[in-house]
Amino acid sequence: MGKHLLLPGVLLSLPLITAWTTFHCMMTEGSRMPLISRYFALCRLASSLSFLASCVAVSNLTQALKAVPPNIEGLCLSGSISVLPPDAFSQFPELKSLVLNLRSIQLLPGALRGLEQLQQISFFGIPTKTDFLYLPPEAFGNLSSLQSLTFSSICLNGSLGVQLPPSLQQLVVHNNCFRNVGMLTDIFPDLVLGSSSEDAQSLDILDLSFKHQLNLSSPGALQGLQLRALHLGNIYTEAAAVAELGLQRLEVLSMVRTEIAELPARLIAHFGLQKLYFRHSRLRRIAPESLASCHSLKSLDLGNNYLTDLPPGFLAAMPRLQILNLTTNQLKIVMLCMNGAGAESGLWVLDLSNNQLKSIHPDTFSCLPHLRELLLQENQLSHLDDQMYQGLKRLETLNLSGNQLAALGENWLASLPALTTLNLLDTYMVLNSTWDFGSLEKLHHLRLKLPSESPRILSLPVGLSSLELHAVSGMKPFKLVPNVFPTLQTLTLKGWGLQLGFQNVSEIFPALYQLSLLGNRLDDLCSQDTSSFFLWKLPGLKQLRVRGNGHSLRPCRITGLPNLQELKLEDLQSRTRPRPVKFEELVGKLPRLEVLKLFRTGLETLSAAAFQGLGSLQVLVLDWENGLVLDSSLQEHSPQMPQYIYFLFASLACQCTNAWIRTWIEQTPRTYVYLTQSQLCQAEARGLSKSSLFPFLQSHCSETLGLALFLGSSALLFLLTFLPFLKDTRNWALYLQTLFRAWFQGVRGQRDERNQFLYDVFVSHCRQDQDWVVRELLPTLEGCPPTGWGLRACLPERDFEPGKDVVDNVADSMMKSQVTLCVLSPQALRTPRCCLELRLATSLLLAAPYPPVLLVVFLEPVSRHQLPRYHRLARLLRQGDYHVWHENDERKDKFWAWLRGRCMCVGG
Ligand SMILES: *[C@@H]1O[C@H](CO)[C@@H](O)[C@H](O)[C@H]1NC(C)=O
Ligand SMILES: *[C@@H]1O[C@H](CO)[C@@H](O)[C@H](O)[C@H]1NC(C)=O
Ligand SMILES: *[C@@H]1O[C@H](CO)[C@@H](O)[C@H](O)[C@H]1NC(C)=O
Ligand SMILES: *[C@@H]1O[C@H](CO)[C@@H](O)[C@H](O)[C@H]1NC(C)=O
Ligand SMILES: *[C@@H]1O[C@H](CO)[C@@H](O)[C@H](O)[C@H]1NC(C)=O
Ligand SMILES: *[C@@H]1O[C@H](CO)[C@@H](O)[C@H](O)[C@H]1NC(C)=O
Ligand SMILES: *[C@@H]1O[C@H](CO)[C@@H](O)[C@H](O)[C@H]1NC(C)=O
Ligand SMILES: *[C@@H]1O[C@H](CO)[C@@H](O)[C@H](O)[C@H]1NC(C)=O
Repeated sequence: MGKHLLLPGVLLSLPLITAWTTFHCMMTEGSRMPLISRYFALCRLASSLSFLASCVAVSNLTQALKAVPPNIEGLCLSGSISVLPPDAFSQFPELKSLVLNLRSIQLLPGALRGLEQLQQISFFGIPTKTDFLYLPPEAFGNLSSLQSLTFSSICLNGSLGVQLPPSLQQLVVHNNCFRNVGMLTDIFPDLVLGSSSEDAQSLDILDLSFKHQLNLSSPGALQGLQLRALHLGNIYTEAAAVAELGLQRLEVLSMVRTEIAELPARLIAHFGLQKLYFRHSRLRRIAPESLASCHSLKSLDLGNNYLTDLPPGFLAAMPRLQILNLTTNQLKIVMLCMNGAGAESGLWVLDLSNNQLKSIHPDTFSCLPHLRELLLQENQLSHLDDQMYQGLKRLETLNLSGNQLAALGENWLASLPALTTLNLLDTYMVLNSTWDFGSLEKLHHLRLKLPSESPRILSLPVGLSSLELHAVSGMKPFKLVPNVFPTLQTLTLKGWGLQLGFQNVSEIFPALYQLSLLGNRLDDLCSQDTSSFFLWKLPGLKQLRVRGNGHSLRPCRITGLPNLQELKLEDLQSRTRPRPVKFEELVGKLPRLEVLKLFRTGLETLSAAAFQGLGSLQVLVLDWENGLVLDSSLQEHSPQMPQYIYFLFASLACQCTNAWIRTWIEQTPRTYVYLTQSQLCQAEARGLSKSSLFPFLQSHCSETLGLALFLGSSALLFLLTFLPFLKDTRNWALYLQTLFRAWFQGVRGQRDERNQFLYDVFVSHCRQDQDWVVRELLPTLEGCPPTGWGLRACLPERDFEPGKDVVDNVADSMMKSQVTLCVLSPQALRTPRCCLELRLATSLLLAAPYPPVLLVVFLEPVSRHQLPRYHRLARLLRQGDYHVWHENDERKDKFWAWLRGRCMCVGG
C-alpha cells in the first residue's frame, strides 16, 4: 500500500493553508489595504508590500503564527508576549516589514534569524505605560537588508552594545526613558566613532522625537556620525546643543512641538542646513537679525506657530528658498516682495493656508516669477485684486477653498495662463457664465460649486482631466457646454446637477474612468420601472463610488459596466424608511469587478445568485452592515467566491440559517474570511445572558450543523459537476482536499472501531460500461473458485443503501472496500452526466488522507486528450495501477493476471 502515499504526497506539496480563516489575524494584499486601513492603522505597513497580516490579542506566538501563510511580506503583531524565542519568524523568509506591538519583551539571541529580506522592524509599547525591550547585542546581526529600525514608547535601557547592520538608513527612537543622547550611544555604539567597528555609521534619518524632555547637552555624543536628517521633538531650550553633538554632516533638521520661541538660526548657519521644519512651536516673530544665518535654506516649514507677520527682507535673506510653508499661523498680512523693488525670489511653493489673511496687497507676489503652487485655502479673503496676479504667470496650482470670496477680479482667468489646478470649493464663488475659460488651455483639475439659479448652461474648459462639481441637491440640472470632454478621466458630482442624456453619456466623457456620485438620490440615474438599475453606460469606467444621502427609497442596481474594477456603495439605506436589501438589488452584471465595498447599504441577504455576474471579484468588504444572513447556497458557489471577504463593522444575524458559516469559513481554503469574533447573540429564553455568535448558533441550531450536512448532496453535486470546468488544478484539488479530509477522518474513526472491510473491491463505473462490468468483470471477481476469485465486490446500483444520499453511499462504500476499481471508456467519458459516482470516487480518492488502493481499467486505449477530467488522476497513478482491456484472448489473460495480482496481494 506504500506507493499510494503518492497521492496525499502530491497534494500536500501544494501550498496548503488549512485554517485560512482566523479570528485574530487579518490578511490583505498590500494594494487592497486602503480598503481596510483602519485595521492596519497601528501597523504602519506599506501598501507596496504584496501580502500583509495583522494579528491582534496575541498571547501565544506559536499559535498565532500558525494561521499566517508563509509567504507574507508584512506582519504586525499586537498583544503581550514576554519572550521572542530563537527563530520566532524564520517560517516567513519573505518578510520585509515586521511590526511588534507587544509591550514588554525580551528578544532571545537568534529571535530574528532567517529574515534576510527584512527591511523594516518596529517595536511599539503602550504610550501611557513604561514598557521595556531587551535586545541581545546580535539581535539585528544578520539582517542584511534592514533599512529602518523603530522603537516607540518602549525603553531600551537594559540593552547595551547592540550592533546595527551596515544597511541601516533610519533609526527612530521615541520614548521617555532617555535623559540624554549619550544613553543612546551606549545602546548603539555603532553610531559613533571609536567603537568596535572601524567607520562610524552613516545614517539617512535619526529620529529622536521623545515624549519627554531630552537633555541635548551631551557634547560629542554623536561624534563623527554622518547624518542627512535629524528629527527632534519636545525639546525645551537647548536647540543650540545640537551643534555640539559632533555630527559630521546634517542637511535636514526637524524640530516639532518644542517650547522654543525663536528660529534656531545658529544651527542653520552651523550645518548650512538645507531644510528646516520648525512646526508646532512657540514662534511669534522672527528676529530680523537672525535672517542673516538662513542663507543656506531651500525649504522652510514654520507651520503651526504664532507668527503674525514676517520681517522685512525675509525672502531676500534666503536666495535659495524654494518651498515656504507658513500654514496655520496668525498671519494677517504677508509682505514678501518689497514695493516691487526687491530681488527676484526662486520660490516655487508658498503655503499660506489656514491663516487670517483678509486681503492681499497687490505687490505681494510681484517678486515670485517662479511660483508654481499658491495655497491660500482657509483664510478670510473676500476679494482679490487684479494686480495681485501679476507675477503669477507660471502659477499652476491655486487653492482658494474655504475663503469668503465672491469675486476674483475682472481678468483673473487671463492673468493665470499656466494654471492647471484650481480649487474654488467652499467659497461664495459659483461658476459664472461670463468666465472665459478659453485662455486656460492648461487647466486640468477644476473644483467648484454650481450656482443655484439660472442660467442653466454650464460652460467649462474642454481640456479638463478631473472635475469636481458641487450642487445644491434637488436643484434643476444644468446642460453641459461643450458636449464632449475628450480627456476627462475623473468626475466627482456632489449633490448631482448635470443634465446628461443617459444614452450618450459615454460620448460626452469618452475617457472617464473614475466617477464619484456623492450625496445624491440615485433615483435620478436609475431606471424608473420595477427593475431599477443604473442607467449610465460607461464602457471605460474603472472605478465608481456612490455615496447616498439617506433618502433613496429603493436601491439602484449597478450593472452593465463592462470594465468596472472597483465599486464602493455607501450610505444608501433610507434613514426614514430602512428596508432590508438583497445583494442582487445592489449589484448586477460587472464581469471585471475586482473590489466591492458596501457601507451602510442596508444589505441583509447574500446568496450565491449575487455572485453570478461578478466572475472577477477578488475582494468584498462589508462595513456597517448588520444582521447579515448568508444563504447556504454560497457554499455551493464556494470555488467562485472572492478570495477575500471582510466583515468589518458588520454582524451576522443570530439565526440558524447562518449556522453553516463557521464550518465553511474554517474549511474553505480558497476564500479568506475576516469576521470579528466579538459579536454577541441573546438567547430569548435565557433573559439577558449573551453569548458569542458561533457558540450560540452551535447550541441553538445543532441539528443543522455538522459536516455531514455541509457535504450534503446539493453542495457536492454542484461542486463535482462543476469540477471539469475549473481550469486550475490547484484550486479544486485544494478545495477538495480540505473539504474531505475532516470528513474522512470522521469516517475512518468509525471504521476503525469495526476495523474490517465489508468489501474487497469497490467498482466504480458509468452506466455505459455496465455491460462489461456485468458480463466480464463480476463473474471473475465474485465467481466461486476456481473459475472466479470469490471476492466481495461492491457495485453502486446493486449494493447501495436505498434512500441514502449518493455521496454518502459512495464514500461509505469506498471506505468499506479494500480496493477501488475505476472502469473508464471513451464512450462514457463523452457523456457528461454519466459518471457521477466515478467522479465522486476520484475526488474522494484525491482528497482522502490515506487513500485506499486505486486501480484503473481502460476499456479501450484512451488517449490523454480524451481524458480531460481524469488525466490528472492518471498522472497520479503509477505504472502497474492501470491496465487496458483487450478483447483479444491472450491479452485478456494478461489483464486478469494483472487484476488478480493487484487485488489478491492487497486482499491477502
Ligand atoms: C502555545 O501554543 C502551542 C501550540 O498551540 C503550544 O504547544 C504551547 O505550549 C503554547 N505555549 C504556551 C506558552 O502556552
Ligand atoms: C548569523 O549567521 C551566521 C552564519 O549563517 C551564524 O553562524 C550566526 O549564528 C548568525 N547570527 C545570528 C545572530 O543569527
Ligand atoms: C530604565 O530606565 C527607567 C527610567 O529611567 C528605569 O525605571 C528602569 O529601571 C531602567 N531599566 C533598566 C533595565 O535599567
Ligand atoms: C543636561 O546635561 C548636562 C550634562 O550632561 C547638565 O550639565 C545640564 O544641567 C543638563 N540640563 C538639564 C536641563 O537638565
Ligand atoms: C505645509 O505643512 C503642512 C503640515 O504642517 C502640510 O500638511 C502641507 O502639505 C505643507 N504644505 C506644502 C505645500 O508642502
Ligand atoms: C485645497 O484646500 C482644500 C481645503 O483645505 C483641500 O481639501 C484640498 O485638498 C486642497 N488642494 C486642492 C488641490 O484642492
Ligand atoms: C458673474 O460675474 C459678473 C461679473 O463678474 C457678476 O456681475 C455676476 O453677478 C456674476 N454672476 C453670478 C451668478 O455670480
Ligand atoms: C445626446 O443625446 C441628445 C438626445 O438624445 C442629443 O440631442 C445630443 O446631441 C447628444 N449628445 C451627444 C454628445 O451626442
